[in-house]
Amino acid sequence: MKITIVAGARPNFIKIAPVINAIQKSIVKGENISFRLIHTGQHYDKNMSEIFFEQLEIPNPNSNLKCGGGSQSEQTASIMIEFEKELIKYRPDIVLLFGDVNSTLACSIVSKKMNIDIAHVEGGIRSGDMTMPEEINRIVTDSISDYFFTTSETANKNLLSSGFKSKNIFFVGNTMIDTLIKNDKKFFEPKFWAKIGLIKKKYFVLTLHRPSNVDDENQLKNLIQTIIDESNNIPIIFPAHPRTLKRLNTIGIDLKNIFIVDPMSYLEFNFLVKHSKAVITDSGGITEEATIMNIPCITLRDSTERPETVEFGTNELVGSLPENLPPYLRKIIKGEWKTAKKIPLWDGKTSDRIIDKLLNLYNINDQ
Ligand code: UD1
Repeated sequence: MKITIVAGARPNFIKIAPVINAIQKSIVKGENISFRLIHTGQHYDKNMSEIFFEQLEIPNPNSNLKCGGGSQSEQTASIMIEFEKELIKYRPDIVLLFGDVNSTLACSIVSKKMNIDIAHVEGGIRSGDMTMPEEINRIVTDSISDYFFTTSETANKNLLSSGFKSKNIFFVGNTMIDTLIKNDKKFFEPKFWAKIGLIKKKYFVLTLHRPSNVDDENQLKNLIQTIIDESNNIPIIFPAHPRTLKRLNTIGIDLKNIFIVDPMSYLEFNFLVKHSKAVITDSGGITEEATIMNIPCITLRDSTERPETVEFGTNELVGSLPENLPPYLRKIIKGEWKTAKKIPLWDGKTSDRIIDKLLNLYNINDQ
């Protein structure tokens, strides 16, 4: 079985690492399986891309399509053009796509138009918010995928209610959590730890990058001001995504107890989260990681495609209105927060399940 794996943006790198590892184990066992890894180039800065390959021991991509930057459509279109050339040259039995980024969408359309099977890892999740580019990417990718590897029962239900057949849906768990569990012992203190004088459990971590929060200057300004006003002067570490950094430089407010740092490597970022008092974020993946590490998490969005992080985990959906935030921050400061329960199949073995299932499917198809 020949697999082409696509990765383009930071969360993809975290999700593919354990799957590649599972493939490599199968190769050693003598299974009939090989892979090509394609980096679309959507994320291209060293600390958004290369550092993840190094730390998570992901092999060098067989090809980098170098399609970074541009508008949503420019980016999607250039990935499609380059990925088609890749598939013409190296035709696999199946393309393995991850998550909900523009690279996922672009490569799903190209693959299906060339009549190549697609498996969507993290298929079926839905926020219901069609203003998010990721929601459109999820819906389109799922609509033309052949197989779905899902992270939750909710994702299964979403797929079933959209008419997909249960025989093609496999609830396997979360590959992002495979990576978290595998690397937990390797997390290390970021360089700025001592410089800022951070103390375990006595700081917050903040991440913001959703267009709905950072592209509107007033929204960003009001969110940041509320966080500063309500944080009791506790240090707040804010690793700023390039898109956020551009805006932060223009909003002109005194950042007081907020420390802006560059986008962080995986092992340093998760050290920071693991020892924090709480996380304030608009990311989806971070809510999953915070849940597994049992760290209180506030999500500054009106919806989530990961309801299990709220139902079983430490996440609370606070909404994007800054005025919603104060009572939640006070609760955290007082130490009154829920603790996480176990989430079914988020156990570090998801990638092995995916590869076993694929071997099974394609061995049967070969006969
Ligand atoms: C993308 C994903 C989002 C994911 C996020 C994580 C989509 C639709 N969104 O959003 O789901 O949570 O990645 O990081 O795919 N840029 C750089 N250097 C880089 C990468 C990007 O400067 O290495 C700049 C781009 O040129 C652009 C901006 O950052 O101006 C946004 O990048 P883009 O890849 O379009 O989307 P993200 O906001 O990163």
